[in-house]
Amino acid sequence: MKILLVYSSKTGNTRKVANAIGEALHICPVPVEENPDAAGFDLVIAGFWVDRGTADARMKAYLGGLVNQKVAIFATLGAEADSEHAAKCLENGAALLGEGCEVVGRFICQGKVADEMVAMMKQMFPAGHPHAMTPERLARIERAASHPDEKDLAAARAYFSQLCLGAQ
Ligand SMILES: Cc1cc2nc3c(=O)[nH]c(=O)nc-3n(C[C@H](O)[C@H](O)[C@H](O)COP(=O)(O)O)c2cc1C
Repeated sequence: MKILLVYSSKTGNTRKVANAIGEALHICPVPVEENPDAAGFDLVIAGFWVDRGTADARMKAYLGGLVNQKVAIFATLGAEADSEHAAKCLENGAALLGEGCEVVGRFICQGKVADEMVAMMKQMFPAGHPHAMTPERLARIERAASHPDEKDLAAARAYFSQLCLGAQ
């Protein structure tokens, strides 16, 4: 089976997950900036970092350009991987795919939120604002700081190994 593994990463989290999947499947991850041609591939594995509830702009454009492909998506985000928000982000990512695409797999894990982003949020959003830095939000950001960790990477390897074995 010919597999294309393409990812978008701003601060490295999604790249780490892409590298782990690449190791497991013995393929090289391609950054979305290279705009790889998906024609002729049996499966496209596409990874993005979550930007305001959906795929980041680069992967958004790439997903929209895929047509009639089998696609497995993965992502990293600041929130917990088993949260409703995470499920919604994957759903939003899947909805961006072009005509005739079929989503055959989904994987998501937490990723450290960049320090600059945290500092900016603290500065921009005063107490009472919907995005204000509440103790709960800060605790979540602190929990995310060690991700993706070895467990996340092992889970990504296992998930995609299984998916690709099953699809053969
Ligand atoms: C501008 C911006 C928007 C973000 N929006 C969300 C969001 O809506 N939900 C969330 O859980 N995490 C959000 N995050 C956190 C990132 O998705 C997370 O840190 C991700 O792992 C970054 O991946 P990368 O290192 O591959 O760029 C946001 C981060 C930035 C910088």
